[in-house]
Amino acid sequence: MGEVKSRQNTEELSRQFSYIEKAKGYVEEVSRQLNRKPTCCVTTFGCQMNARDSEKLVGILEAVGYEMIESENADFVIFNTCTVRDNANQRVYGRLGELNGHKRHNPHMKIALCGCMMQEPTVIEKIQKSYPFVNLIFGTHNIFKFAELLCTMFENDRMTVDIWQDTETIVEDLPKRRKYPFKSGINIMFGCNNFCSYCIVPYVRGRERSRHPEEIIREIKNLVADGVVEIMLLGQNVNSYGKNLEEPISFAKLLKEIEQIEGLQRIRFMTSHPKDLSDELIEVMQQSKKICRHLHLPLQSGSTKILEKMNRRYTKEQYLALVNKIRTRIPDMAITTDIIVGFPGETPEDLEETIDVVRQVKYDNAFTFIYSKRTGTPAASMEQVPQEQVKDGFDRLLKAVQECAREQVAKYRGSVMEALIEEVNENNPSLVTGRLSNNTIVHLPGTADMIGQICQVSLDECCGFYYMGHAVEK
Ligand code: 5AD
Ligand code: SF4
Repeated sequence: MGEVKSRQNTEELSRQFSYIEKAKGYVEEVSRQLNRKPTCCVTTFGCQMNARDSEKLVGILEAVGYEMIESENADFVIFNTCTVRDNANQRVYGRLGELNGHKRHNPHMKIALCGCMMQEPTVIEKIQKSYPFVNLIFGTHNIFKFAELLCTMFENDRMTVDIWQDTETIVEDLPKRRKYPFKSGINIMFGCNNFCSYCIVPYVRGRERSRHPEEIIREIKNLVADGVVEIMLLGQNVNSYGKNLEEPISFAKLLKEIEQIEGLQRIRFMTSHPKDLSDELIEVMQQSKKICRHLHLPLQSGSTKILEKMNRRYTKEQYLALVNKIRTRIPDMAITTDIIVGFPGETPEDLEETIDVVRQVKYDNAFTFIYSKRTGTPAASMEQVPQEQVKDGFDRLLKAVQECAREQVAKYRGSVMEALIEEVNENNPSLVTGRLSNNTIVHLPGTADMIGQICQVSLDECCGFYYMGHAVEK
């Protein structure tokens, strides 16, 4: 069955390549009318998955002849949207209003919307009604047919809308444009089966589907041959990778195979669900020379009562025991997390439990979110917490998080560690910015030719959440 599937994908792939050729013709036509290469801007909202999807969009856009620019005053603007919290949706509506202003001055301008927000029927209705100037809308499942959709858009004056409810198809191997030449995200699985009661992701990204290990390995080898030294394996719940393949394989085994790839230097992954983090994985991380010393382990809440209502399937004690096990075996592992404040039914006492976990775990960083009610999720119909209580709790939590993070980050002051140099410092061109294995940032004197290299850096001074340092000889 695997063979049939990949044959279908090859067919789909060649169909899409023919649409790329066709779309080139349409873009050339626009180019003749404008007397210049048309410009395009892709704006990404949300997570690393979306960032990777945008690289796929840009790959196709460049292939069909667009010049990519940063400004939204372009001939073609695409919003790759997020819907995990309502403020992400509101930002898209606000920005769409601004785009309409640009479009009035540029009759050639086209606007497209894609990503998670588009998988919600109420959003599509609203756009059709209030933002009729949008040219193309597609979703998360059919992004692989972007070239084909571009052709449809050029052939129609009316809004093109193509949203799929779900899909079994995985089509990779289309052109992609990496944001960084030396590092890359790689999708190892799509979708999520967990249905945490607050979360809209399973509804907009569909059921869990894992890519075949051979395809993942092949993609990584190609990336390494193209100069990539660090990869980030992406999935909503990487710890359940491979469970639904015809020949099941564990995430830990996949990591072991990836570790063997010559020339690859660093491996990162996200996100890990605590309930599925196996001893086998801890063992593989401990043995590995390439897996970075950073684990993102979303807590969401420290109260067992709230965790149960969230359908997280672990207790406060189980989470703490897991962290303890990891820290005992791998003492230098940085741990970061996500926390939601104001989930339905959360009392100040529940929040104290969360703060207690923050203090016990001593997170290196935590992303804290105010609960956002998502229509269609089970938590939306639970009794909501008053706003004032949420605000107060959020501030208290943030303070605790920052105290711990400051302490954790400062632990390595004075030591020498490896940093992958990522860019010239935005504010001071005599500095470059690097990332340690544990994800902490360090700024050091350097030049652009160091970008993409792993250097030994002395961590001289800790400035809150980052270091100032200098490169030292090996
Ligand atoms: N409200 C607030 N935060 C949420 N997250 C997911 N859904 C919601 C929601 N409805 C947070 C979780 C998750 C992160 C990606 O976003 O903490 O781990
Ligand atoms: Fe959402 Fe939970 Fe799936 Fe993460 S594991 S995407 S929070 S449902």
